Amino acid sequence: MPDLFTPYTLKGVTLRNRIAMSPMTMYRSVDGRMDDFHLMYLGARAAGGFGLVFPEQVAIAPEGRTTVHCAGIYDDDQIEGHARVTAMIRNMGGVAGIQLGHTGRNGSELKPWVANELGRQLPPDHPEGWQCVGPSDVPYGFGKRPFPVHALSTDEIATLHRQYADAARRALDAGYQWLEMHFAHGYLAASFYSPLANRREDRYGGSLENRARFLLEAMDAVREVWPEEYPLTARLGSDDYHPDGVTFDESVQVVGWLKEHGLDLADLSFGGNTDDMTDPFFPNVSAWVERGARVRREVDIPVTVSWNLGIPENADRAIRDEKIDLVMLGRPALANAHWPVWAARELGHQDPFSLVPEDWGWWLSNFRGHDPSIGWPASGAPVAADQHLRSA
Ligand SMILES: Cc1cc2nc3c(=O)[nH]c(=O)nc-3n(C[C@H](O)[C@H](O)[C@H](O)COP(=O)(O)O)c2cc1C
Repeated sequence: MPDLFTPYTLKGVTLRNRIAMSPMTMYRSVDGRMDDFHLMYLGARAAGGFGLVFPEQVAIAPEGRTTVHCAGIYDDDQIEGHARVTAMIRNMGGVAGIQLGHTGRNGSELKPWVANELGRQLPPDHPEGWQCVGPSDVPYGFGKRPFPVHALSTDEIATLHRQYADAARRALDAGYQWLEMHFAHGYLAASFYSPLANRREDRYGGSLENRARFLLEAMDAVREVWPEEYPLTARLGSDDYHPDGVTFDESVQVVGWLKEHGLDLADLSFGGNTDDMTDPFFPNVSAWVERGARVRREVDIPVTVSWNLGIPENADRAIRDEKIDLVMLGRPALANAHWPVWAARELGHQDPFSLVPEDWGWWLSNFRGHDPSIGWPASGAPVAADQHLRSA
């Protein structure tokens, strides 16, 4: 029976454990590049024991970014910054993964913690904005993203698929060994997949097969250039939580189609195509684990999920029960760069410091001294201060 710390092999890549840092947009790039900030932040998570480390959704085109501050891999000049990051992650014992995406009608934005009087989006004629694209001319709305959306022509769709492939080739040159397609969270692929955003009447709209076509063709384009020995995965917006949107039952079928097109592992998340969600899952602990288990069983494909798995017992249980193959952690990775070590201590792992670089592990395990004073109580229980300090 595997647990959270059992190595995991998918295709020709072995992760040292089942803990992945989920992609998180950082809004700190200049001209789409990765720089010292990314090296520090991502290197620290690899040194903290994460087996698989994703930077953020990395754009396949400049207008596929969320903001002008977001990362891209649409230009050969951007490869060098990514290569520094992947080398550091590898050096710290992790595997570097990239999430490729295009924000579609949810681009041209401000940073989330900055809003203007029109919501989150900048108009196309703003110096830091652009014309957003989508399957149809349907803006996202909800007081956040009001501006007109350009409905893509089939020629423009073909160009986007070439951009996916070009980005994948650059990702390979940069040293990534795991590639996730971002097909969720309201971005371009998710909007093609969802009837809430896709009103097309051609072969990219209408039936489930037609709505999935953009995703399947993107997979095909990337599979052509991405080596077989490296995992190709996708985060699928598998439920819109809306009566007129994508349903999870449809998505179980679509994961099967993606598998036929070369998908190695499914990362299940929500559609993100509307703010008007029935039964939003956001506060639920281990929210997506049972759905992951269903896809794993019915489609017979490895699965990962994120959302509220930061309590070590829950993450470990999901792996031990073989409901999912990997856990993806977002906010816990922001909060604690050494989450895997902390979790190992909490779960009573025999050698938690085997998760950090060898030299640190040696010092932390062997140096004579007062163990709780390293700042990491084994159980999470408060450490009793010395009597003389208490009375001083
Ligand atoms: C700051 C931040 C940025 C995020 N950016 C992305 C992203 O670029 N791509 C993506 O698929 N999900 C993104 N997410 C979602 C996370 O990857 C993850 O799925 C989500 O936070 C749920 O996991 P958690 O409960 O462990 O935080 C982001 C989340 C946060 C907090």
